[in-house]
Amino acid sequence: MLTVAPAAPLRVIQITDLHLKVQPGSRIWGVDVDTGLNAVLAHIQENHPDADFMLVTGDLVGDEPEAYERVRQRLELLQLPVYCLPGNHDFPATMSWMLRNGWVRRKRHIVTDHWQFVLLDSSFPGTPDGHLAYSELALLDTLLVTDTDRHTVVCLHHNPVSSQTPWLDTMMVSNHAALFSVLDRYPQVRAVVWGHIHAEFSARRNGVHLLAAPATCVQFKPRVPEPQVDDLPPGYRWFELYPDGALRTGVERVG
Ligand SMILES: [Fe+2]
Repeated sequence: MLTVAPAAPLRVIQITDLHLKVQPGSRIWGVDVDTGLNAVLAHIQENHPDADFMLVTGDLVGDEPEAYERVRQRLELLQLPVYCLPGNHDFPATMSWMLRNGWVRRKRHIVTDHWQFVLLDSSFPGTPDGHLAYSELALLDTLLVTDTDRHTVVCLHHNPVSSQTPWLDTMMVSNHAALFSVLDRYPQVRAVVWGHIHAEFSARRNGVHLLAAPATCVQFKPRVPEPQVDDLPPGYRWFELYPDGALRTGVERVG
């Protein structure tokens, strides 16, 4: 009997919302941000040693630009390419400079044999709100129209659809309709991936996966009107991306 080995997938890990500060052991909403990140990274090293690269979908630091050095030092220990985009607690220009080379980088576009990743900046200077500047939408449109063969994952920080959590939805991508009007023109788009909501999220829209990962620090309780800390542990999301466009994904919680 002839058996055909399944094609090997691209293996990608997503972590998000590190909120690291200069002082080790700093807390956000009462939760030690270093403890959560360390536990998540140790779990990834033990359970995903064959990962091809990692995505970090924003809020690398907690309002302290000096903390990018700690982010870089901590993530480069993975000895894995780590590609980052900014969130509302980041400093995009400082982040681009501090993470300009080495294992841990600010990146806009990742190309592999069968997949491409577009990393957008949804931060809006001076506010926590999400918005995609015309230049971000133009970049996305250009990359999609010039490479129609590669299955595509679009990454950003803010949620472009309702998270069902009213206080978080006040910050969602304000021009989400403009984003989806671009995405709807390109059938190679397989997934839109974000952070910001400090919770797991999974839905589908026109066959496109809509996915968020838990934060590496504090978790927010979904579907409550006011901010409320959830007692779930930190976590991360893993992806297996196949040459034919098939996508497997799951969330790991790290107690
Ligand atoms: Fe965050």
